Amino acid sequence: MPGVRAPARIGGWVRHAPIVSLPCYSYDALIEGVIAVTHAAITGWGKCLPPAVLTNHDLSTILDTSDEWILSRTGISERRISHVPLEELAYVAAARALAAAGRQGRDIELIVFGTCSHEDQVPNMASGIQARIGAQPAAAFDINTACTSFLYGLSAATALIRTGVVSNALVIGAELISPFMDWANRDVAVLFGDGAAAVVLEASEAEEGVLAEKLGCFGEARDILRVDGMGGRYANHGVLYGVVRWQFEGQEIFKRAVAGMSGACEESLARLRLKPEDVDLVVPHQANLRIIEAVARRAQVPMEKVFVNIRRYGNMSAATVAVALCEAVEEARVRPGALLLMPGFGGGLSYSAHLVRWGQRTQPLQVSAVELPPNERSALELIKDCLRRKLSPADPHAAEPFAGL
Ligand code: ACO
Repeated sequence: MPGVRAPARIGGWVRHAPIVSLPCYSYDALIEGVIAVTHAAITGWGKCLPPAVLTNHDLSTILDTSDEWILSRTGISERRISHVPLEELAYVAAARALAAAGRQGRDIELIVFGTCSHEDQVPNMASGIQARIGAQPAAAFDINTACTSFLYGLSAATALIRTGVVSNALVIGAELISPFMDWANRDVAVLFGDGAAAVVLEASEAEEGVLAEKLGCFGEARDILRVDGMGGRYANHGVLYGVVRWQFEGQEIFKRAVAGMSGACEESLARLRLKPEDVDLVVPHQANLRIIEAVARRAQVPMEKVFVNIRRYGNMSAATVAVALCEAVEEARVRPGALLLMPGFGGGLSYSAHLVRWGQRTQPLQVSAVELPPNERSALELIKDCLRRKLSPADPHAAEPFAGL
């Protein structure tokens, strides 16, 4: 901002240069130009995985592929297919995160919804969650950097807490990939799954939450990962929404993912003058086990210190790191006070790495009673239903726009 110099950090306090035009710090924070450094501690966490499991074997019944190929090239055995809309997955994850933080929806001041598979763009997804959890009049916005959306959302929410705009936030990473998947394309159909997770951030004087991060983007290479058919450019061109073509240069993405994530890890560590051995656990984006191994090698962190759950879920895009973080806590891989490194990579081609200090509490304060509605159908049935609706809209009202929705 013109006229305002970046705050200088002095022993846990920030001293501002004279303020010419007001940045958005809270009134209290501005008194005498000196504010305590506010951190954004993670106080609640919750995930929601739909119950229907799509195994590699299932995929081999509809595609020319095999369990052996998928597992050896990607590390994935199975993924989840949702029987409910995106908002429902996100709502359950949010309710669980709120309970873990011992908070009610009405306490929340900001909702950030990270996704690239919006079921609504206007109104946005975050406002739907605000209404569901009773967080009126919390600020609510969506963020889309594809697979890194949750991580970029973490940065945005942390910054808004640190500058006193809000005192807490609910950050969601949720993705419903299955309706947008090209189920005839084995190059991509084997890689992705559905899921959601959320965290609650709260202002804290303790040095917790995101301590440093590096965010970046290889915009010049953005076309190596495209989902044609998702977005306004296809409107009025006869493209049925949901009918997509994935433009995916797997090997090039692989190289960029490794370079982006390992470089971001190095930079975020350098910002705090830390070394790889200071990191207690790496919780990376999970697109391919071989990418994770390559990033760990370059970041000089042994695989024993890397949390991996790709085998169970594949790549859930924005939900991936959020779910991995929840599971790392649930499985006691996150110790009180642990330093976490969370590298991410996604369409755009966005990349990031966050250094996060976990707090002393690794147990939820409460457990939410909120559950997904029951599901009777198998993952293959859900996919086949989806394809039927997409390719041969048998519903007599389907020709009429918006009928049947
Ligand atoms: N089953 C069987 N064979 C397959 C499959 C499949 N599902 N997919 C590809 N093949 C074939 C190819 O056709 C090719 O055959 P050919 O040699 O006869 O031409 C052969 O397997 C090898 O293909 P490669 O592309 O060389 O395989 P590679 O080892 O590079 O693995 C993969 C491909 C898994 C896509 C890898 O490149 C990768 O993980 N890339 C990054 C994944 C990615 O982009 N994830 C998303 C990141 S961004 C985000 O999260 C949104």
